[in-house]
Amino acid sequence: MARYLITSALPYINGIKHLGNLAGSMLPADVHARFRRLQGHEVLFVCATDEHGTPAELAAREAGMSVRDYCQLQHDIQRQAGTGFHLSFDWFGRSSSPQNYALTQHFAQMLEDNGLLEERVTAQVYCVDDARFLPDRYVEGTCPKCGYVDARGDQCDNCGTLLDPTQLLHPRSKISGSTNIEVRDTAHLFLRQPLMAEKIRAWVDQAQDWPHLARSIAYKWLDEGLQDRAITRDLVWGVPVLKDGKVRPGFENKVFYVWFDAPIEYIAATQEWADATGGDWKRWWRTDGGAKDVSYVQFMGKDNVAFHTVSFPVTILGSGEPWKLVDRLKAFNWVTWYGGKFSTSQKRGIFMDQALELLSGDYWRWYLMANAPESSDAAFTLEGFQATVNSDLANVLGNFVNRILKFTDAKFDGQVPAQGVAGEAEAKLWADVSVKIAAITAYHDEMEFRKAAAETRALWALGNEYLQMAAPWTAIKTDFTLAALGVRTGLNLVALFAILAGPFVPEAAARILDGLGVPESKRMWPKADDAGLLDALPHGLQIQVPELLFAKIEDDQVAAWKLQFGGGG
Ligand code: MF3
Ligand code: ZN
Repeated sequence: MARYLITSALPYINGIKHLGNLAGSMLPADVHARFRRLQGHEVLFVCATDEHGTPAELAAREAGMSVRDYCQLQHDIQRQAGTGFHLSFDWFGRSSSPQNYALTQHFAQMLEDNGLLEERVTAQVYCVDDARFLPDRYVEGTCPKCGYVDARGDQCDNCGTLLDPTQLLHPRSKISGSTNIEVRDTAHLFLRQPLMAEKIRAWVDQAQDWPHLARSIAYKWLDEGLQDRAITRDLVWGVPVLKDGKVRPGFENKVFYVWFDAPIEYIAATQEWADATGGDWKRWWRTDGGAKDVSYVQFMGKDNVAFHTVSFPVTILGSGEPWKLVDRLKAFNWVTWYGGKFSTSQKRGIFMDQALELLSGDYWRWYLMANAPESSDAAFTLEGFQATVNSDLANVLGNFVNRILKFTDAKFDGQVPAQGVAGEAEAKLWADVSVKIAAITAYHDEMEFRKAAAETRALWALGNEYLQMAAPWTAIKTDFTLAALGVRTGLNLVALFAILAGPFVPEAAARILDGLGVPESKRMWPKADDAGLLDALPHGLQIQVPELLFAKIEDDQVAAWKLQFGGGG
């Protein structure tokens, strides 16, 4: 038994996430956590909402709420959606927690003690009427390149030029609209990343377990050369900047940059979990506290990789303290909505809460993982969703389970029959099944979700072939014993399918195993060399036929959803 610490990139607080966000970090992290738990390993799976930064302040303002209330509300909404998708977090925390404040301030102190922080004065846009410095996204004005009047402080959306807010012509505050704006000097804390470059490179060099996408992104950043990076911002909502336990002089209206404190929340969320449950967070995070034998796996979209392979490790290694670093990092490309961007304002795409109003979590989980954006972007289409659900879940898995359980109920008093001795057909079946179990296990182990799903589907197909051939419904007319053997083998396949599909479709898996009366203690990941698996259910065991597992998605549903959520073009 090993120990796995699993984290998913923290979803931003500003609004509920769409299915593409789900598929790029939280969902695969959950699938992997479930797989490791089924294997009998000890797992700690944590996530949290990423609550600081300008977007959170802007979204709260738009909602007419205080940032604090807005974040509380959105956190609850996101947690609920996670539950709906069966995300089995051991803890779903908040980056605005007291634990994260304290830990973020601790890391900053360590970095400062180690000579890695520098206070530096920069010229920045100041709004006299708002009486504050404006972060990039709080300034708008005319683009100096193309004359577009609604350019943002960081970029012109018309010509694409990257801007410094001090370059905007006729700048105005996004808060008040005031044009009473000056450029003033102000101090910020800079993290001197170049001083850590060699240490980071050495660490990436030894990270042989990272997939290619993650390593290549890390090297690209290292090769381009690390830059000093401002880790404070002119905002009110966030982690205060201290010096000797008090607000740092000159930083009264500043907080740490969201990307500085967010990854620290992985650790702080574990502290939140420990405080709430009596758990021991050091066992997971401190190599001097028992975390040496922990395998730490991170999940994220590709835009997050540099922050996790370079910036966050600078913080961790720069502290000089014995923190656990990531061992395996799984990054994803994008899920698109019919090849384009998901967008709330343009009514393109389905968001997590909306999806759950249409169908329960398993349907989406299966399609999103069977089409995981691993080697390239993957388009979500309602037609693809319908086809995949109908063929894989309804026709192949659902029908198989339903058929054999109903038949057992009708002809065998709902009991696992004892008669019949496994013969050649069963030996051949086992040989094939065993290969599939090995393949599914290997792909889960490698976090190759698309392939794991494909092999899982292929296993279901094997079961159908066997049943087709054994045809107990025909055999029963002439040879009861032979029919009993087919039924018993079929029932054992059902149990096997449910356990192996559990990481992808946990709700259906649980319903199937409940129906079969398989106790929790027996719901363990199977071993490919355990030939007894096709006759593992106790003879005489009473089974229950579960309600319909998966409904087919009809054409008129797809048509209605396309109207509602956009689709096609
Ligand atoms: N909120 C970020 C995003 O959605 C991810 C933060 S991950 C963490 O892109 F490491 F900072 F926590
Ligand atoms: Zn422009």
